[in-house]
Amino acid sequence: MDLIHINVKDRIALVRLCRPEKKNALTAAMYLDLARALNRADQDPEVRVIVLTGTEGVFTSGNDLNEFVDNPVVGPNGAFFQFFGALSGVTKPLVAAVDGLAVGIGATMLLHCDLVFATRRARFQFPFVNLGVVPEAASSLLLPRIVGSAFAAELMLFGEMFDAERAHQLGLVNSVVPDETLEKFTLTRARTLASKPAGAIRLIKHLLREREPADIAARNHLESRLFGERLLTPEFAEAVAAFRERRPPDFSRFD
Ligand code: COA
Repeated sequence: MDLIHINVKDRIALVRLCRPEKKNALTAAMYLDLARALNRADQDPEVRVIVLTGTEGVFTSGNDLNEFVDNPVVGPNGAFFQFFGALSGVTKPLVAAVDGLAVGIGATMLLHCDLVFATRRARFQFPFVNLGVVPEAASSLLLPRIVGSAFAAELMLFGEMFDAERAHQLGLVNSVVPDETLEKFTLTRARTLASKPAGAIRLIKHLLREREPADIAARNHLESRLFGERLLTPEFAEAVAAFRERRPPDFSRFD
């Protein structure tokens, strides 16, 4: 599990994405390791709070784009589904600590977290349209619920990056803190949560997040099917070619 680090201390499981040279882009193997880490932490009686974080200056730049081409993980038995099941099924408080980039799944996984803390330099993006694909991880359902339909449309249709202050205004982020204080701030808040009665915490989380789990799973299935279809389109091929060639994509020739 060398790209996903887990450290349990003070009843807090700190799960860290650790592939900084690729901006913590997630491969199928990393999704599986993350799923295992979340499941294990959720079942570990020693753990009361789970913190998800990245490395300095980057949470994650999302799914590994090269794997989307070589080894897509969107099938219903694939690594992404296992990760999604673990993420959306966590029963303990799930706290995200975001420094730097949170792009693609890096942004959509936050919609499944109970609390999100970010640094001032954090940047968020739902980039799916720019890749010619559709949203994932039930974000087409959860984002409008969290930020309202007008802002969800703006974020998803333009696919532009936005800063931590805007994420805070939109209700995607609880607190924005100075860059160097993120881990300390998050762990202090997590320790406070860990000191509360665990049974009550579990029930409160369940009540707060009882947003028709079947709907969320069904939306993830629908999005994944459409996403898989979109990976076969010339628009997606152009987006990936442009990313690899470090040039802007040209979608003008596609209807
Ligand atoms: N998949 C695969 N590789 C990725 C990646 C991704 N999602 N994001 C970054 N990388 C790689 C880059 O290819 C580069 O590799 P190289 O050094 O071997 O060339 C390295 O990580 C550093 O990224 P770079 O693009 O140089 O950093 P940047 O700070 O200029 O830009 C991003 C960062 C995240 C804005 C840019 O990399 C990007 O747009 N990535 C794609 C994000 C995306 O669309 N994710 C959603 C997938 S659904």
